[in-house]
Amino acid sequence: MSHVLAAVAWPYANGPRHIGHVSGFGVPSDVFSRYMRMAGHDVLMVSGTDEHGTPIQVQADAEGITPREAVDKYNRMIVEDLHGLGLAYDLFTRTTTGNHYAVVQELFTALHANGYVIAKTTQAAVSPSTGRGLPDRYIEGTCPHCGYTSARGDQCDNCGHQLDPIDLINPKSKINGETPQFIDTEHYFLDLSAFAEALGTWLDSREGWRPNVLKFSRNLVDDLRPRPITRDLEWGVPIPQEGWDTKRFYVWFDAVIGYLSASIEWARRTGDPQAWRQWWQTPESRAYYFMGKDNIVFHSLIWPSMLLGYSGRGDKGGKPGELGELNLPTEVVSSEYLTMEGRKFSSSRRIVIYVRDFLARYDADALRYFIAVAGPETTDTDFTWSEFLRRNNDELVAGWGNLVNRTVSMAAKNFGGVPTPGELTDADRELLAAVRAGFDSVGGLIEQHKQKAAINEAMRIVGEVNKYLSDQSPWKLKGEDERPRLATILHTALQAVVDCNTLLTPYLPHSAQKIHELLGGEGVHAPMPRIEEVSDLDGGPDYPILTGDYTVGTKWEPRTLTPGTPLSAPTPVFRKLDPSIVDEELARLES
Ligand code: MF3
Ligand code: ZN
Repeated sequence: MSHVLAAVAWPYANGPRHIGHVSGFGVPSDVFSRYMRMAGHDVLMVSGTDEHGTPIQVQADAEGITPREAVDKYNRMIVEDLHGLGLAYDLFTRTTTGNHYAVVQELFTALHANGYVIAKTTQAAVSPSTGRGLPDRYIEGTCPHCGYTSARGDQCDNCGHQLDPIDLINPKSKINGETPQFIDTEHYFLDLSAFAEALGTWLDSREGWRPNVLKFSRNLVDDLRPRPITRDLEWGVPIPQEGWDTKRFYVWFDAVIGYLSASIEWARRTGDPQAWRQWWQTPESRAYYFMGKDNIVFHSLIWPSMLLGYSGRGDKGGKPGELGELNLPTEVVSSEYLTMEGRKFSSSRRIVIYVRDFLARYDADALRYFIAVAGPETTDTDFTWSEFLRRNNDELVAGWGNLVNRTVSMAAKNFGGVPTPGELTDADRELLAAVRAGFDSVGGLIEQHKQKAAINEAMRIVGEVNKYLSDQSPWKLKGEDERPRLATILHTALQAVVDCNTLLTPYLPHSAQKIHELLGGEGVHAPMPRIEEVSDLDGGPDYPILTGDYTVGTKWEPRTLTPGTPLSAPTPVFRKLDPSIVDEELARLES
């Protein structure tokens, strides 16, 4: 047994989640964590909503509400979205807690004391009418490189050059059209160049990462420069330095610290406030970070730099902050993008399927299954309704669901329960061995983040069981003298189904629980998260969290079925979908 941290990217609290989001960070991290728990590891899975910065300010402005109102609203919606998918977080919290603010300030204080934070004067754009800072991407003007007239303050979409707002010719605010003023402003910068050597050594020692993630990160190491970690903003974590009260930390600086602050919050809530240390400070513990590919640099370079600097392990040395030395990530597990009927997701253009809308019409496991077999694990993939229909009907329903149904109903009808087997034939033994081998093959693949290969392997084994049934054709055994053989076949098939159900549990926890019960199992097979209203530990307002007791549940090992266990005629576990849903859903998209 070992300690495993599953650190899951923090969704912005600027809207409900769509299925592209949850295919990147959500489902893969849950499949991994569920498997690792079943295999006996001590998993801590943490995340929360990312509630500061420009994305929130912009959404609040668009709705005419305050950032606080916006994050309260969307934090709650996102908690419900993730709960609906059965994502088993030990703690899903938010970045506006007193605990998070304190941990962010502690990290800054130690980085500053160790000399890794430097103050520099730069030029910032402000709106002359409001006096508020204008974020780079809300300034538009002519590109000095190619003359494109709609270049943004952060980059030109025509020629791809990275820009500073001050480079733009004839800059204008996208918010109200006025010409921004440029004023001198002081900001804190994290001196990333002081970590180049330590990062290079660390990256060179990484094993098992997806090659593109490692290569991308390694390439950036030699080009590291100081990066600003503060902004001229009102909405964010305050900077614990005198004279800095009009500024806030840059959202990414505070968000990545969330992994640590959420672990600490979780520990404080369990009543053992030091418990987080097992995942962050013991050399044997492992930490896996899950996200979409646009988040890679923050997790493979910036967060590791912050951890190194906090621990006093960059070029300038230093000593660990109050919390002590902190572990770097073991692996950054990044997925690619899910597109939607061949197009990029876009809420403004309504090319989007929200998790909540999806779950109102279909089952969580149907979506989890699609993401697992056809999601963007290592290449961009496309969600189409026709492919969703096909995967659901031909694979989930016809492949797995029917197998469960046929075996349970034949056993219920003929024996009223799990029959007692006679002597096994070679075919029976071979099937049982093939299913048992799945514990190593499927588990090994999930542990290496090859979740697609793992579910294909599990479904291949399901196919073997289906083939066994058609080869043995138990439905043809009608005579009294054939009953012993009928009992043996059905016992063998039920035993195979029980173990296939365990193999599929990390992917399909809701249906796995139902199948467990159909097969006469009792208690919790696949534990589920719950939403709990809690008070802020440091006096702030109440909020909802996701948490759960995941120490219960079936383990990752074969489970022997007891003959005589009563079985009754099953109701179908999966829903077959009518082909008409494809046109209905496409019409919704166009409207
Ligand atoms: N909110 C960011 C996004 O949606 C992800 C933040 S991940 C964290 O892209 F590391 F900062 F937490
Ligand atoms: Zn350009």
